Amino acid sequence: MNSLKLAEKRHSVREYKHKKLSEADRQYLDHLLIEKPSIAHASNLEFHFVEDGYDMAPLLEGVAGYFGMMIEAPHYYAILCDKESVCSKLVGYVGEWLILNALKEDIGTCWLEVINSDEVKSILNIDSPKEVAALIAIGYGKKELQMSTIYATSGSGSLSSLTDMGYPNIDPHNQKGPVSYRKPITELVYLNEWGNTPEIEELERMGIHEALFYMRLAPSYGNRQPWLFMIKNNQIDLIIKKTDLIAKTVQCIDAGIAMFYFEVGLHDIGIKGGWNLSNFKADYDIPESYSIVGRYEY
Ligand SMILES: Cc1cc2nc3c(=O)[nH]c(=O)nc-3n(C[C@H](O)[C@H](O)[C@H](O)COP(=O)(O)O)c2cc1C
Repeated sequence: MNSLKLAEKRHSVREYKHKKLSEADRQYLDHLLIEKPSIAHASNLEFHFVEDGYDMAPLLEGVAGYFGMMIEAPHYYAILCDKESVCSKLVGYVGEWLILNALKEDIGTCWLEVINSDEVKSILNIDSPKEVAALIAIGYGKKELQMSTIYATSGSGSLSSLTDMGYPNIDPHNQKGPVSYRKPITELVYLNEWGNTPEIEELERMGIHEALFYMRLAPSYGNRQPWLFMIKNNQIDLIIKKTDLIAKTVQCIDAGIAMFYFEVGLHDIGIKGGWNLSNFKADYDIPESYSIVGRYEY
């Protein structure tokens, strides 16, 4: 399956079969993590596999998941890194790489926000000076499930409030598939200067439209899709709309996820290059509420 097909199939799985991963799938994931993408080699990310997810989920209620609402799953990965922005970007990049590879074996996943890292470490018995940046729920999804079922039990203050946070297009009465809204690519790109949206034909001429179609499938916290790409000369800056309402770590994870997708999209169409994750200055005007989080040089 090519990258685009795989990403189109991807969605957050929030209901799992009450069944542990097979030994073969466990080994597949273990093996993957030995071969992390090269961008991660400089980092010291730690992945902790949580074997007994259903026992841990009630204990994690309040300290992980949107509004402290945990998603029950047979397993989780806790991803740990240093509390600084480059490392958090790598959590997003490598975590999403793991998620897409898991999907190749029909293993379902869902990113989960960590609200209190120290408590999560203590509950999961993780002895590390690093911070738990995120959890990823792991298991086999209930394929037949429809959106309406996911939200059927939501009362006030529970999952229903997620419609404000990331599911604005959910019709609680029925949907065919669990596909979340994505912005059109023209809302994602500026050319040469802030506010200058290129025509699709221009992006086609530059050859990057396919990479953008691919990257728009990237997941983000609350489905905010906070990203913008500034194309200028031989570099493309990834810019994120900042907010005080969401933890910095989470915003950096979103950035890392976007970088991963965009890079795969560019490599697929033969544009080589790589991300610079820090130390960049804008040579164009950029509003205060936005920040450059990565620069792709090719
Ligand atoms: C950093 C991050 C944290 C997330 N945290 C949660 C969470 O705590 N609970 C949840 O149900 N979904 C969580 N999500 C999943 C997003 O809501 C989801 O990816 C987005 O709405 C797009 O939907 P899709 O993944 O089905 O395409 C998180 C996603 C990211 C990237």
